[in-house]
Amino acid sequence: MLFDRPATTNPIDQMKVVGQHITRIDGPKKVTGTATYAYEWNHTNLNVAYGYPVGAGIAKGRISSMDIQAARNAPGVLAVVTAETAGKLSKGKMNAAKLLGGPEISHYHQAIAVVVAETFEQARAAASLIKVDYVRAPGSYDLEAAKDTAKKPEGSEGEDADTSAGNFDKAFAEAAVKFDQTYTTPDQSHAMMEPHSSLAMWDGDEVTVWTSNQMIAWNKSEMAITLGIDPEKVHIMSPFVGGGFGSKLFLRSDAVLAALGAKAAGRPVKLALPRPFVMNNTTHRPATIQRIRIGTTQEGKITAIAHESWNGNLPGGSLETAVAQTRLLYAGENRMTSMRLAALDLPEGNAMRAPGEAPGLMALEIAMDELAEQLNLDPVELRIINDTQVDPEKPERKFSHRQLVECLRRGAETFGWDKRNAETGRVKDGRWMVGMGVAAAFRNNMNMKSGARVRLDSEGVVTVETDMTDIGTGSYTIIAQTAAEMMGVTIDKVAVELGDSRFPASSGSGGQWGGNSSTAGVYAACVALRDAISQKVGFNSADVTFADGQIRSGNRSIALAEAAGKDGVVAEDTIEYGDLAEEMQQSTFGAHFVEVGVDMYTAEIRVRRMLSVCAAGRILNPITARSQVIGAMTMGVGGAFMEELAVDKRRGFFVNHDLAGYEVPVHADIPHQDVIFLDETDPTTSPMKAKGVGELGLCGVAAALSNAVHNATGVRIRDYPVTLDKLLRDMPQVG
Ligand code: MOS
Repeated sequence: MLFDRPATTNPIDQMKVVGQHITRIDGPKKVTGTATYAYEWNHTNLNVAYGYPVGAGIAKGRISSMDIQAARNAPGVLAVVTAETAGKLSKGKMNAAKLLGGPEISHYHQAIAVVVAETFEQARAAASLIKVDYVRAPGSYDLEAAKDTAKKPEGSEGEDADTSAGNFDKAFAEAAVKFDQTYTTPDQSHAMMEPHSSLAMWDGDEVTVWTSNQMIAWNKSEMAITLGIDPEKVHIMSPFVGGGFGSKLFLRSDAVLAALGAKAAGRPVKLALPRPFVMNNTTHRPATIQRIRIGTTQEGKITAIAHESWNGNLPGGSLETAVAQTRLLYAGENRMTSMRLAALDLPEGNAMRAPGEAPGLMALEIAMDELAEQLNLDPVELRIINDTQVDPEKPERKFSHRQLVECLRRGAETFGWDKRNAETGRVKDGRWMVGMGVAAAFRNNMNMKSGARVRLDSEGVVTVETDMTDIGTGSYTIIAQTAAEMMGVTIDKVAVELGDSRFPASSGSGGQWGGNSSTAGVYAACVALRDAISQKVGFNSADVTFADGQIRSGNRSIALAEAAGKDGVVAEDTIEYGDLAEEMQQSTFGAHFVEVGVDMYTAEIRVRRMLSVCAAGRILNPITARSQVIGAMTMGVGGAFMEELAVDKRRGFFVNHDLAGYEVPVHADIPHQDVIFLDETDPTTSPMKAKGVGELGLCGVAAALSNAVHNATGVRIRDYPVTLDKLLRDMPQVG
């Protein structure tokens, strides 16, 4: 199905099942431990052996010698695989560095060997016996120091690095009010619960990998490239994923090492990256330096806005597109954005939840708060008077739907924003200095081609098969709701099978595109199934309805179970997109309101309450969508106050590579969170009229929190995370 015109009325608009508060259909499996995650596959007596990785102990250089003899001779060891013994391996198109390195080393903890043994403990013990000598090469590990060497990347990434409209320099020079500040955001780790894990099994020259991955079709083709085999010989299974946040978009070393280990040992091999590997062996959100300049009239109308961003990466790694939101969020005739990339020898920086906007808004939305203070304007009002309904860089392009102002007004009213004291450091509650903060939320909406197969059987059950993944987001449930709505059955008559590369290729889960795109693919397949059933029973598909488990035409009706017959009916289709997203700008909007307390003696920060108001197209399921936003807001608390991969700038690695040193928020850190969704349907995005929401919830949260700390204390921190040591330097004298 080609989607190239705005959707008109369709069966989804009935909203009998779609849009309803339906709890996760996979929930019982999750809470009873019967949802099988990658490392848990063993129930068919596979005679599994265990793999343990060895990571490079230097960040850059080469291996001069490697002694694996002791490991080979250790108890239970079945195989030791290194780059020397692995045979020809290629680098996947989506990885900056090889997933099995050696002799050249590209980054710290790049995998250089896998040890396979009868038990996990034997594999781990043997791995520790491998002796490696290195010749270290000098590397570059400090973004601040490398900033001046940063360049525009080659190719299309470089072409998109700079944008401009009007004449920024002139307008900024002439502006009545000028603002110019620089912010930094640190390297962050996805810190998902389930580490990267795989079980690989060979059958002749075909390999099956049970893994934990967001994008099955990418994984399959990258695996084929890496091993140098035909993609048709690769079978990927990833039905349950314990969180990804972008770290499982791409093929990673767990899957490659498991496959190599299984080949060498002649046995199925399972391997999970030990937690300390996750931080340095996989990807992370790269640190940024961001300069923001804004010029306004005396009344606060933006006349000039510039956002420049710098990040570093391994050769072949990409830009963090931290200026993305500044191109679209606020009006202003004269503008420029620019991104530059420095070469760093740290592990690869890549997508982490809302890549671009998440760190970009951490900077921009503090800048807006500072500007409001400078103008003596309420920060909500400053954002409202600079709203735009058109793409400010290309004013002939409209937003398909934009309710930023409504989000801000609704949030301000619900939260009690009028009780905020604009003067900082004024509100006290015992030993706590109390402050409120606001930030806009913005994240672009992307739509991806997505396919599905649906089958109606003689019991009247509809089964959906697609290689879509559910990374904790609720894919199983919204896909079941879509099929139930389209076929006129209750949700218990729908079965959903996901995460298998033998199923039609879907959008996968990434960039908050999965919800809208994968259900649109199921919609397309259901349209085909409706036609096939109509034809089979001799009804005219133009005037049939599907309701109450029946197909109806005029005064005739047939139960679906009967229509299916004993062979059932099956249909398959893929939703594909035309140019609508080029003609109109599709984005999602929101507003975050937060209240914090700061201990007036110790500068300890406590979140008191949080509210997010989101406008993101049709909400397919208010329970799963709310849960996405709550999780994202929580991640924003981490971004504001805790999360930072500490870089060893001499040796080139992330020091705090575990969940003891890399802190994330827990329940006790956030007493009260609420989410409001504005009513919205966007017919330009798909027949579902939905948009992404899973990443929107994170965008802007950290800035709102930082702004609240400033409101509480009068101290402005421009280097994340906002921690008490930074605050204490400038905390007001008490008393
Ligand atoms: Mo997302 S960072 O594209 O999983």
